[in-house]
Amino acid sequence: MAETAQGAATQEEKEYSEAQIAVHWKEEEYYPPPEEMAKQANAGDKAILERFAPERFPDCFNDYAEMLTWDKPWDTVLDASDPPFFKWWVGGRLNACTNCVDRHLESRGDRNALIWVPELEDDETQEITYADLHRRVNEFAALLRDFCKVEPQDRVTFHLPMVPELPVSMLACARLGVIHSEVFGGFSGTACGQRMADAKSSILVTMDSYYRSGKLIDHKAKADEAIEAARKDGIEVDKVLVWRRIPGEYHSESEMVQGRDFFIDELLGDYRGQDVEPESMAAEDTLFLMYTSGTTGRPKGAQHTIGGYLAYVTGTSKYYQDIHPDDVYWCFADIGWITGHSYIVYGPLALGTTSVMYEGLPTYPDAGRPWRIAEKLGVDIFHTAPTTIRMLRKVGPDEPEKYDYHFKTMTTVGEPIEPDVWRWYYKVVGKERAAITDTWWMTETGGFLGSTLPGLQPMKPGSCGPACLGIQLVILDEDGNEIPKGTGKAGRICVRNPWPGRMLTVWGQDDRFIDTYYAKYSDQNSKEWGDWPFMCGDGAVQADDGYFRILGRIDDVINVAGHRLGTKELESAAIEVDEIAEAAAVPVVDETRGKIVEMYVSVKPGHEASDEVAQKVSQQIVKDIGAIARPKNVWVVPDMPKTRSGKIMRRVIAGISNFADVGDTSTLANPEVVDEIREQVQSAKREKGEVPQDLSAKEKEEIATYGESSE
Ligand code: PRX
Repeated sequence: MAETAQGAATQEEKEYSEAQIAVHWKEEEYYPPPEEMAKQANAGDKAILERFAPERFPDCFNDYAEMLTWDKPWDTVLDASDPPFFKWWVGGRLNACTNCVDRHLESRGDRNALIWVPELEDDETQEITYADLHRRVNEFAALLRDFCKVEPQDRVTFHLPMVPELPVSMLACARLGVIHSEVFGGFSGTACGQRMADAKSSILVTMDSYYRSGKLIDHKAKADEAIEAARKDGIEVDKVLVWRRIPGEYHSESEMVQGRDFFIDELLGDYRGQDVEPESMAAEDTLFLMYTSGTTGRPKGAQHTIGGYLAYVTGTSKYYQDIHPDDVYWCFADIGWITGHSYIVYGPLALGTTSVMYEGLPTYPDAGRPWRIAEKLGVDIFHTAPTTIRMLRKVGPDEPEKYDYHFKTMTTVGEPIEPDVWRWYYKVVGKERAAITDTWWMTETGGFLGSTLPGLQPMKPGSCGPACLGIQLVILDEDGNEIPKGTGKAGRICVRNPWPGRMLTVWGQDDRFIDTYYAKYSDQNSKEWGDWPFMCGDGAVQADDGYFRILGRIDDVINVAGHRLGTKELESAAIEVDEIAEAAAVPVVDETRGKIVEMYVSVKPGHEASDEVAQKVSQQIVKDIGAIARPKNVWVVPDMPKTRSGKIMRRVIAGISNFADVGDTSTLANPEVVDEIREQVQSAKREKGEVPQDLSAKEKEEIATYGESSE
């Protein structure tokens, strides 16, 4: 087995901080790029590695910028005069919508830009050509401009599910130079409203309902919660624009408020056939905000630029996804996350390819669904997350072979993929003919940071690969010293150099941007970009061959099914419940979702522990954050294990929840509580059949150090 290595840390190693623990991986075997794939690859010639060598920085990235159409060429490739606010292609002007839509009209107007597959299998698939997309985007842009009176760089928030109206809305904003901020449809109305307030956005675009597991679920109801939450945070929502999932029908309990809520299909009648002149924007203007979780409760709006971001996702889509215009590319992710923005919408459409979108669950109505979609649409590039792969393997391990599709490349993103799962993906899903690109990156980075070029570089299960073209990755120890490759020591992975896809800043919080990503390792007085390594937030180890293995987040974030949830957000939701005195969130290893959340809470004096209290905590979390954050269990415990300074020792309860070693408890102020909690939690979990199988070395390590960064 892959990850059964000598796992447990020795005494000597324990003296290192969590990011430096030595990792003893068993090295996995290499798989060469499949020949047929390599022959046609966009990046098929080794010379490309030279073109992006460190000495070619920053001009190497012009290769990506030149894939775009500019209204005005740039004067300066990289303006690094004010670190860390690096600006790319300064002086250049462009429009993202023109690049993703208009410029393909002449050569490929009648080719599909999007193919949308609704969840119900009998419902008709929608094919949207570039010409159709152009029409729809222009009409909605005209509505936003004339009815909502938006101006360039205003913010418009979307709370939309996986429907074609989402990319249409994004591109309409991009056409107007308006900043869009899509909040994942599965997030709660409250989470959406808080993000609206942070972005100072007074227009919400939503949908009445959408399909999940074969049922139409009410979505507009969340808009009412969003408006309440935004109001609490000081923002009055002016207009709620509502798309209808089924034209002419309304499937929501929420009432339309006169003068505030409008059906978009009704309004659009006034804008039929209108053309909107695309705004020519500066390269460093903002294209969108994507909120993500961090160490404090307030979500961070990652602010992505038009020129830098678009060039980076276009270039990486071309070389790493190997997208050609005639491919049928399917990224099976939600556009509500960064993956969907970069690799369903902007990258693929900038390259003029056909991008497939699917509304629903991977296993609806059965585990053969994705492979039927692939067969029917002739998908040749497939892209998804380990959590989906694990689920499909679990419920339909033999399904792929029943269908006749042919993938040339397959991507995985969002979490580390276990070598065993990787091999199933390669052998069964890819039929041993497709290259796998394991792409490691994050919301803040815009696009891939570590991966393999599918036609050039061999794959190695469990490792994302070397640094991407032009990216200088480095692993640093706690003192900022570089950890050389091949030592087996882990540290914090950082990017040495600026790169175009990186977010410009955290929306409205420049100091937080510096604190989170730069303060630890940068010389803040320096004006040299080389003194500003970007700290990604992951632990990693680099093998002799230069390939990186990502160990997971070091900060207070739990990655559930590839989505980041901030422990502070979870804990503050729990504490909103009247009876709750203290709360701690811990990750629990889960066979399909990677990690899931468990909450530990204690009640205020005068209150009793009860199932009802636990229920309330769970409901509050779903209300504040969304169903994705619903805890697997809420344990109401007599007291939390604490240090003498009063901090909750999350690694101890994480150890209990995972049936793993709780480590040294001698420094606790209340060590006696550990056995009590263990007895309570583990006996309940045994009864429920929730005892995990053997944890891998990596998982053990992650649990043993969980929450240390906050102590
Ligand atoms: O821990 C890493 C993990 O997901 C985090 C970023 O999450 P988010 O911003 O939501 O973006 C997800 C889509 C890029 C990272 O800090 N992660 C992402 N991709 C991988 C990964 N871990 C291991 N391998 C990957 N390929």
